[in-house]
Amino acid sequence: MSGILHAVFFSPTHGSKKLALAVAWPLAQALGKELCEHDLTYPPGRAKKLCCGPDDVLLLAFPVYAGRVPRLLDGFLSVLDGKGARAAVMAVYGNRHYDDALLEAVDALQKRNCDVVAAAAFIAEHSLASAIGTGRPDDRDMELAGEFARHTAQAILSGHAGPVAVPGNHPYKELPPAVDIRPKTSEACTQCMLCASQCPVQVISEDDPALVNQGCIRCCACVKACPEQAKFFDQEPVLKIIAMLEEKCRDRKEPEIFTV
Ligand SMILES: Cc1cc2nc3c(=O)[nH]c(=O)nc-3n(C[C@H](O)[C@H](O)[C@H](O)COP(=O)(O)O)c2cc1C
Ligand code: SF4
Ligand code: SF4
Repeated sequence: MSGILHAVFFSPTHGSKKLALAVAWPLAQALGKELCEHDLTYPPGRAKKLCCGPDDVLLLAFPVYAGRVPRLLDGFLSVLDGKGARAAVMAVYGNRHYDDALLEAVDALQKRNCDVVAAAAFIAEHSLASAIGTGRPDDRDMELAGEFARHTAQAILSGHAGPVAVPGNHPYKELPPAVDIRPKTSEACTQCMLCASQCPVQVISEDDPALVNQGCIRCCACVKACPEQAKFFDQEPVLKIIAMLEEKCRDRKEPEIFTV
């Protein structure tokens, strides 16, 4: 079989990327396709238009934000040209729930002329609360990622058409109102600039990493990347979310796989 497996991912704190590649490698091998990675985490990746060929397969992986697909992917998805390519989606969530994110992603890809035959919800450490989903994806998750690759390959080779049925509701869960909350920086900062290089929306000043401009999506890439633990959120709304997660979301959730 000819064609390309396009592994498309947005992954500020690297959980979705790890899982996407754990699926993409065996899936490309099972289907005899060349693997091509498309990292949408940073602006140059998001600015490119992806045009699939009819023999191509697309795998989309993203973190669940507020039970939905991250809005930063809207631009990429609105110009994607699927050309009938078979597709699979992975919603990666922080052990609370994925709500309508998987359904929203399936709908979005179908709208762009992809035939979505497989979907999965996986778990990674919660970006805002490291006590939730700690250490995930772990060995068991990685095994199940391999299983998802096998199920997806079978669904593609079976020739059955999508869209795959997934949990979720129309209309999608309402998004919370936009709030301007930015990370703070402690005196431990050594000005190494790692945080600025990891910010998906480039709002951390290149001259002064303590200066964070408007537009932060609270992805926590800077918080997790900082070698000095100098970046942090201590604002009341964030602390409330962390408290809710620590009270209600400690029980381990398991990955779910759906195919046609
Ligand atoms: C702004 C924001 C909103 C989030 N909303 C949810 C959510 O609704 N449900 C959930 O289980 N996890 C939620 N998470 C956690 C992420 O989905 C989870 O940590 C994900 O693995 C991060 O992916 P990444 O490592 O690829 O960046 C949220 C994280 C952030 C930063
Ligand atoms: S990563 Fe941490 S230490 Fe480095 S510039 Fe950013 S806040 Fe400062
Ligand atoms: S400044 Fe905001 S958007 Fe940028 S990396 Fe930090 S949390 Fe993410």
